[in-house]
Amino acid sequence: MSDKSTRTYDSILELLPSADNPTPIVRIQRIGGFKRAKVYAKLEWYNPFGSVKDRVAANLVRDATERGEHLENLVEPTSGNTGIGLAMLSNANNYRFSATLSKAIPVEKRTALRLFGTDLVELDDDLCPMPGQPEGAMAKAAELAQRPGWTELNQYSNPANPEAHYRTTGPEIWRQTGGGVTHFVASLGTCGTITGTGRFLKEKNPDVKVIGVHPTEGHDIPGVRSRRALALADFFKPEEYDDIIEIGDDEAYELCRRLNVEESLIAGPSSGLALAGALQAIPDDEGVVAVVIFPDNAFKYSSSFRRHLPGLFPADEAEQSAPVNPFASTLAAAFDLAQVGPDVIDADEAKRLLDSGVPIVDVRTPDEVEQVHIDGSVPLPLSELAEGETQGLPADHAQEVVTICSAGRRSLYALLLLKAQGYQNVKSVDGGMGAWITAGLPIAIL
Ligand SMILES: Cc1ncc(COP(=O)(O)O)c(C=O)c1O
Repeated sequence: MSDKSTRTYDSILELLPSADNPTPIVRIQRIGGFKRAKVYAKLEWYNPFGSVKDRVAANLVRDATERGEHLENLVEPTSGNTGIGLAMLSNANNYRFSATLSKAIPVEKRTALRLFGTDLVELDDDLCPMPGQPEGAMAKAAELAQRPGWTELNQYSNPANPEAHYRTTGPEIWRQTGGGVTHFVASLGTCGTITGTGRFLKEKNPDVKVIGVHPTEGHDIPGVRSRRALALADFFKPEEYDDIIEIGDDEAYELCRRLNVEESLIAGPSSGLALAGALQAIPDDEGVVAVVIFPDNAFKYSSSFRRHLPGLFPADEAEQSAPVNPFASTLAAAFDLAQVGPDVIDADEAKRLLDSGVPIVDVRTPDEVEQVHIDGSVPLPLSELAEGETQGLPADHAQEVVTICSAGRRSLYALLLLKAQGYQNVKSVDGGMGAWITAGLPIAIL
């Protein structure tokens, strides 16, 4: 028998949030150095299926059911979290669930969806599904929903999305702050969170400041959209927000790391993004009570952290770059010399060479290349290069070649191997893909 006071429940669905059963808000203690303002993170990973989108999934299903729709087979385009919520609600309600989504979505989320029994239709689409792309997740879901017995609830244009937040997130925050909230900050994806919560809070108190935070164009933060992509979002209502702030990947990932280390909050990348915006927008004044949405936790994003926080993986890099031929100690000595030599160039110089037609040889593993790479680069794993594979390399040994890996070690071994094969003009990119991304140079995400 359910008993909320002892947290005993008959069904997992009773854990869905409401003003009586809110997700927690926790005060940020150190980051930002706020002395007077109270800044709270609203921890959305306390939702039963792990993210803010559980609210939306639940409200989409509730709304359709109350409108008398007979739900049996659901298909939904998703950047992952709505899919996860809908997958679990489908399991609870005996629906069949199919998700159309981009292969650029972190493998951890796609794995979770498979584990939850979802049929996945994986596509070459943007990280966050966008309308107007004939081969994209939205078009595919719309096509699959034409089959008899199938329904697309469509979080991107269904008012039940912002309504979920109007009905739950807003009232929770109002109650949790005793009506004292002055600032509300959310990252922007479908914009259901900001628009629904913002409307509720402004109805309660028109002076509440509603602040949206979005990433830069070409970003790598799952669940959120750049300004260009936001322009196509039905629930993006800039006229209803007081401020819109743009944050780069580096700042978002670094703040995400700091949240985990300094605040003991297991926050994911879009929480770092939202907090970065909050740090710009929230004055450290007496009476300020800010609530920042932290959409989900860090555990679904290890492949993203591998790309953006390469400093976390030094052992990995050393292991993968271990000398690959029998003359290990000679190679190691040559390596040390090469590391400080003129053949190590920075990412901007590599880009300049690429633009002038010099091939960039990416010596990482195919898995790493699949996650993110430079358009037009030549994939040739170090292990294959060491075995004499030359596919994609220029036939003319006098021609310039640039090598790249994730942090600049394997590419240096590759440089030595290529020189040993007779290439006279080889350069290695210092800091590898990590430095390339940090420099804001263009990447392709598969
Ligand atoms: C991790 C994450 N952060 C932020 C958002 C943005 O929320 P909204 O779609 O309500 O704007 C999403 C949405 O899917 C998300 O999954």
